Amino acid sequence: MKEQIHALRQVIKDDASNVDTTEALESFRNTYLARKGKIAALFEQMKDLPKEDKPWAGKELNALRTETEDLYASLEANVGGESGDANSIDYTLPGRSYHFGHRHIVSQTIEDIKAIFKNMGFSVVTGPEIETDYYNFESLNFPPDHPARDMQDTFFVTPDIVLRTHTSPVQTRVMEQQEPPIRAIMPGKVYRNEVVTARSHMQFHQVEGLCVDTDITFADLKGTMVHFAKQYYGESLKYRFRASYFPFTEPSAEMDITCYLCAGEGCRVCKNSGWLEILGCGMVDPNVFKSSGIDPERYTGYAFGMGVERTAMLRHGITDIRLLFENDLRVNKQFY
Ligand code: DAH
Repeated sequence: MKEQIHALRQVIKDDASNVDTTEALESFRNTYLARKGKIAALFEQMKDLPKEDKPWAGKELNALRTETEDLYASLEANVGGESGDANSIDYTLPGRSYHFGHRHIVSQTIEDIKAIFKNMGFSVVTGPEIETDYYNFESLNFPPDHPARDMQDTFFVTPDIVLRTHTSPVQTRVMEQQEPPIRAIMPGKVYRNEVVTARSHMQFHQVEGLCVDTDITFADLKGTMVHFAKQYYGESLKYRFRASYFPFTEPSAEMDITCYLCAGEGCRVCKNSGWLEILGCGMVDPNVFKSSGIDPERYTGYAFGMGVERTAMLRHGITDIRLLFENDLRVNKQFY
C-alpha cells in the first residue's frame, strides 16, 4: 500500500505538469479525484489491509487527497477557470450560446394563422371553453338528434353545459355582439370525448373564421381560403373544394390541398388519394343568422374552421398528434 500511494503521488505530479487546457483539467479531476478515481480506488483497497495498517494508510491517503485537491485548485487558476486572471482568457474562443425558450409549435401555428388573417382585416376574438348546449349546438342549427350531440363526442358538464366541441359557438357570440360588417377569427381549445390515437386527441385547437356583410358570396369565401392556403402552405400549392355538410353552413365545402409527402401521386399519408383536407367552410346558414339576431334577408356571410394541430402536422409532416402534447424536448426543439 505504501508503495502504491508513493507511486500514485508521483504519477499525479507528472500528470499535473501536462495540464494546460480545461479538457485536460477535467480529465485530471476525473482520473484522480472523482468518486471512481484512483485515490478513491486506494481508499477502497483499505478494507483488505490488516487492522493495524489501517490508521496510517488512512492518514497517508487523506494527505494525498488534500495535496491533489490543492494541486487541482492551482491548475484550475492557471488554466483560466473561475479564479483565473485576465491574462489566461482565450479571446479566440467562440462565444457561449444561450438557450432561450421558444413558443410551442401549436402556439406558433396559431400565431401564423392569425397573422395571415389579420393582414386581410380580420380581428381576433375568443370565447369560453365551457359552453352551453345552446351556443355549441342549438344556435348553430344542429337538429336535436344530430349525431355530434351524442355522448360519444361531447364532454358534458351538466346536461345543458358542455366543453365546447368546436370554436363555431364563438360565431354566435360575435354576431350577438357586433353589427355587420364582421370579419373575425376565433382561435381556441376544443374538446371531444374520443379515444386518443395518432390521429385524434380529446383536446385540441381550432381557428374559426367568420365574415358577414351585405354582399358576401361564395367567391369571397374561396378567394380568402385560397389566399390563406397559399400564404401558409406555399404559393405553388394545388387545391380543390369538395361539397360537404355542416349544420351551420349552406352550401358547405371542404378544402383539400395536394399531399405534402407525395405531391399528389398518392401515398400512405393521403391514403392514396393525393389530397389532404385542410378546412371546412361554407355560407352561413340563415337559421344561424336568425339565432344571432342578424337579418338573413339583408346580410350574407361565410364561415370556416380548421384544426390547428392538423394544420401544423400537414405543414411539417408530423404523423402523430400525440407528439404535440407530450412536451418531449427532442420534438419541441425541432420547431424553433
Ligand atoms: N366546426 C367544424 C368542426 O368542428 C368546422 C367548421 C366547418 C367550421 C365549417 C366552420 C365551417 O365555420 O363553416 O368540424
